[in-house]
Amino acid sequence: MKAIEIRNKYLKFFESKGHTIIPSAPLIPENDPSVLFTTAGMQPLVPYLLGEKHPAGTRLTDYQKCVRTNDIEEVGDNRHLTYFEMLGNWSLGDYFKEESIQMSFDFLTKELQIPVGKLYVTCFKGDNDCPRDEVAAECWKKAGILDGHIYYYGKEDNWWIAGEEGPCGPDTEMFYDTGKPACGPDCQPSCDCGKYVEIWNNVFMEYFKNKDGYSKLQQRNVDTGLGLERMTMLLEGKETPFDTELFSDVMNKLKDLQKVEILESRRIVAEHLRSSMMIISDGGKPSNIDRGYILRRLIRRMIRHLNKLQISLNEISNLIEINVEALKEMYPELEKNKETIKRVINEEKDKFVKTLSHGEKEFEKEIKKLSEQNIDIIPGTTVFKLYDTYGFPPEVTKELAEENNFKLDLKEFEKLFKEHQEKSRQGAEQKFKGGLAEQTEKTIAYHTATHLLHQALRIVLGSHIKQSGSNITEERLRFDFTHPQKMTKEEIQKVEDLVNEQIQRNLDVTCEEMNYEDAKKTGAIGLFTDKYGEKVKVYTIGDFSKEICGGPHVTNTKGMGTFKIKKEESSSSGIRRIKAVLQ
Ligand code: SER
Repeated sequence: MKAIEIRNKYLKFFESKGHTIIPSAPLIPENDPSVLFTTAGMQPLVPYLLGEKHPAGTRLTDYQKCVRTNDIEEVGDNRHLTYFEMLGNWSLGDYFKEESIQMSFDFLTKELQIPVGKLYVTCFKGDNDCPRDEVAAECWKKAGILDGHIYYYGKEDNWWIAGEEGPCGPDTEMFYDTGKPACGPDCQPSCDCGKYVEIWNNVFMEYFKNKDGYSKLQQRNVDTGLGLERMTMLLEGKETPFDTELFSDVMNKLKDLQKVEILESRRIVAEHLRSSMMIISDGGKPSNIDRGYILRRLIRRMIRHLNKLQISLNEISNLIEINVEALKEMYPELEKNKETIKRVINEEKDKFVKTLSHGEKEFEKEIKKLSEQNIDIIPGTTVFKLYDTYGFPPEVTKELAEENNFKLDLKEFEKLFKEHQEKSRQGAEQKFKGGLAEQTEKTIAYHTATHLLHQALRIVLGSHIKQSGSNITEERLRFDFTHPQKMTKEEIQKVEDLVNEQIQRNLDVTCEEMNYEDAKKTGAIGLFTDKYGEKVKVYTIGDFSKEICGGPHVTNTKGMGTFKIKKEESSSSGIRRIKAVLQ
């Protein structure tokens, strides 16, 4: 079964069970630079899992584009992917374990026609925080899971939380038995020998974890996630996702073009090309920090492996074309953004080619120095510097070293590399955590202030003003908007005064749900993307502002403090950036 058929079956099945199909949120979380990428279907839904009302109701389903970046270096084996698609269904305080499990069972056995004997499930074993999940196990038995196919594990396997803090709970996971022989007498679903493949995870989210421990959420939710690439692989009877129709066109082309046979490199190129295309299509740009850096790494790693395969870098545009053709039915945005994708990847290629030649010069300098000191081992710090600063892969350094009769201190390099990896992993987790946890009184007030600022800018500068990004922390708000020139002092003062006037008027903030079309008719401003689905929320601040937004907001502007613009600067061409505080 093709991936798109599985996706469509999934959405239709859950629609028939009363779920509203909502669109995938972008890979790059809007207005939330604290998170690198969307990593799970639940991520854009966090406010609703915490009790905010979702305009599309209490039963939702979607496909979500996801990128997980912790394992980039693992890509190339038979299973790791950075980009993947997650199918999900949610109950926001609606159904719970029994209905969720029954629906999953029916979808797998009836819609996908997986024989029940191939299904294994795992449930939470229980500990001091939460009891053993006998309820879930009973539901599985009732649904029809075979005796002996239910296992219990602890928090390491059967508990789901994004990061360190946030909504969480015990989960139940479904596994597919590939029919491969057991690796030993202890082989069971938790074993990663490849016999059992995890296919779906249903989280029974009824807790919230913070520094002080666990507390009960005000509503019991279900959050599920099914990895589309894996399911496609299993249903197509393939060994790896790279053998499915999702990757086969590019993989075959690479095989035609390669002058050296390296399966791992072909997989890396195919995977990183697809991930980069998806990220760029959703607005990503290569840079030296955060998500831009991840994109840069993906593109550069892809180029290194094209080099290893001895494939000309001029083929990149052609490979992009092939991927667009293969994926456009699933992701029409790839076709729409094809030229941008080509431009961004090729520009990055040109930069990297230059970097590589700088790296070579640096390498030559280093070995000259070492020769003068009669040293024939290149220290790990140099290998790391070449890698980190010049994007110079250690395997290339090694090759060059050998040509020049040098050895490498790879041990030291690996130590430095691990430290570096650990730091970026912690950074990524920290960011994810931040993105979910920060919903304090202060950030909510900043959110409302952003709406006031947006409207004030439109009044003072004109209705051409459009929001092009925003970012809120406990300390300040940042707002990017379209405007061709620097604001004058007077304009800044006027905007500030206008916002403060509104705050002092103690305006009520109200929220209404309506159809997207009706919202447009009310004159509400805001991002008219289709990311909110059919129904949207419109927040109104007194008679001053009306804006489409997911919330949350203060209920009255009273007590928000005094609004002060700290900085007005250029953000990029045609885009200005304001940083402001509430004092
Ligand atoms: N949040 C869970 C996961 O990512 C289920 O969707 O696996």
